[in-house]
Amino acid sequence: MLPNGSLKAAVVLAAGEGTRMNSAIPKVLHPLAGRPLVEHTVRAAAGLAPEHLVVVIGYGRDVVDTHLRKIAAALGRDVRTAVQAQQHGTGDAVCSALDVLPAELSGTVLVSCGDVPLLDTGTLAGLVAEHQCAGHAVTVLAAVVDDPTGYGRVLRDHSGALTGIVEHRDATATQRAIREINSGVFAFDAGVLRDMLGRLRSATRHSRDELYLTDVLGAAHADGLPVGAHRCADPWMVAGVNDRVQLAAVGAELNRRLLEHWMRAGVTVIDSASVWLDVDVQLAPDVVLHPGVQLQAGTVVGRGAVIGPDSTLSGCTVGAGATVVRTHAVGAVVADGAQIGPFAYLRPGSQVGERAKVGTFVETKNAQLGPGAKVPHLSYVGDATIGEGTNIGAATVFVNYDGVAKHHTSVGAHARTGADNMFVAPVTIGDGAYTAAGSVITYDVPPGALAVARSRQRNIEGWVNMQRPGTPAAQAAQRAQQTDGDHTRQERA
Ligand code: UD1
Ligand code: CA
Repeated sequence: MLPNGSLKAAVVLAAGEGTRMNSAIPKVLHPLAGRPLVEHTVRAAAGLAPEHLVVVIGYGRDVVDTHLRKIAAALGRDVRTAVQAQQHGTGDAVCSALDVLPAELSGTVLVSCGDVPLLDTGTLAGLVAEHQCAGHAVTVLAAVVDDPTGYGRVLRDHSGALTGIVEHRDATATQRAIREINSGVFAFDAGVLRDMLGRLRSATRHSRDELYLTDVLGAAHADGLPVGAHRCADPWMVAGVNDRVQLAAVGAELNRRLLEHWMRAGVTVIDSASVWLDVDVQLAPDVVLHPGVQLQAGTVVGRGAVIGPDSTLSGCTVGAGATVVRTHAVGAVVADGAQIGPFAYLRPGSQVGERAKVGTFVETKNAQLGPGAKVPHLSYVGDATIGEGTNIGAATVFVNYDGVAKHHTSVGAHARTGADNMFVAPVTIGDGAYTAAGSVITYDVPPGALAVARSRQRNIEGWVNMQRPGTPAAQAAQRAQQTDGDHTRQERA
């Protein structure tokens, strides 16, 4: 990349409201592949290891600053903020950044925007390297795009030399036909930047009372200083997000690139149109992603695991060879070879052991299942520990909440609990214990015991004939009695 120490400062502009988003959320905080827009650009700039990294904030500054603190912590470096109290344009925003940088700052200053999320460190390094090699005072990162609408256009003279940048709204029809655009990202000589902005501030003011950063290039050229453009061959790298149509388009492209990366790394994606990945997801070779899968927030999937169809995993770890079918899972850990779903809901603190199973219409929360343990059908498992090899009967509820506090249930190893049980926590079922179907377990069950906690059944013979005479039920009963003679059923346990 760049030789160490060659970038003095990187400035990311993120003070704008983003009016065209029509949103209560500042534009730069809109998420894309699991990160706020601004985090993408801040990380790209941080990749160049600039001595100073400054983000200009303004609109929604408190909430943006909170995110920047998290980003700084994740990057393990200093990320400073400069406040632009009123949004008087990109040039004015850079003035705010210069105010927090050392007055004697010299060398290269990179300026990037918080709304250009696909821009990567390599492209920025190319810009800075060309700027420094050519000895430019100003170098703009430019690209030739099919539809330049909304972007500033790069102006060149007959010899092809750069002369300035004109904003779309200020451009003539001829200028609007130019397809070479300003990405909004520049490398500047620090002294030239400070000097030119100072002069522009007192001279040109645009119709909207804005100071344009783009005018620095034209002013430097007019002063006879060397200016240039670094062409980026990939137009997506410089795609700006001003509205939600662009947000969706850039999001789709980022997702396409993430999927391509993982497919090349050995992941099978059955339908790339319906699988969405966050940037920080990790996938091992031979993972299979079926249609309708969303993997979010640092989800890690092990070798050969099969996810989907129709599953959303957020902050989850899935072991090798596990299967997760039609499942919604948040903060869950699924060990190697475990089976989840179809139609499971794993909530935070769910830990499913090796080869264990959480089956159909099962919800788990803060629940640890040992190796080979099974909760196959229609159950709620909250605040529980289930031992190795234990089978929980269908339609079981771990009754963890007494209306005030949550309590824990512990089921030992190799237990067999009956269908339709209630485990009223706190309660412990010992190793190898059985419970009868339909039991409400309120006391501890010792290891190896059978617990029966239900009332005995009582049959009242002939009740239907007496109380519901002539009904289809009574008629059916009479037919059965005629066929079976005076057979009487034994009372069941
Ligand atoms: C800007 C450029 C345009 C370029 C385009 C590339 C200017 C005048 N125009 O236009 O030439 O083609 O980016 O995407 O520079 N911001 C502030 N403070 C402000 C205004 C903006 O911090 O007062 C920040 C915004 O938060 C945003 C960035 O600067 O991250 C760009 O602002 P935006 O309003 O999106 O500029 P564009 O109209 O896209
Ligand atoms: Ca923009």
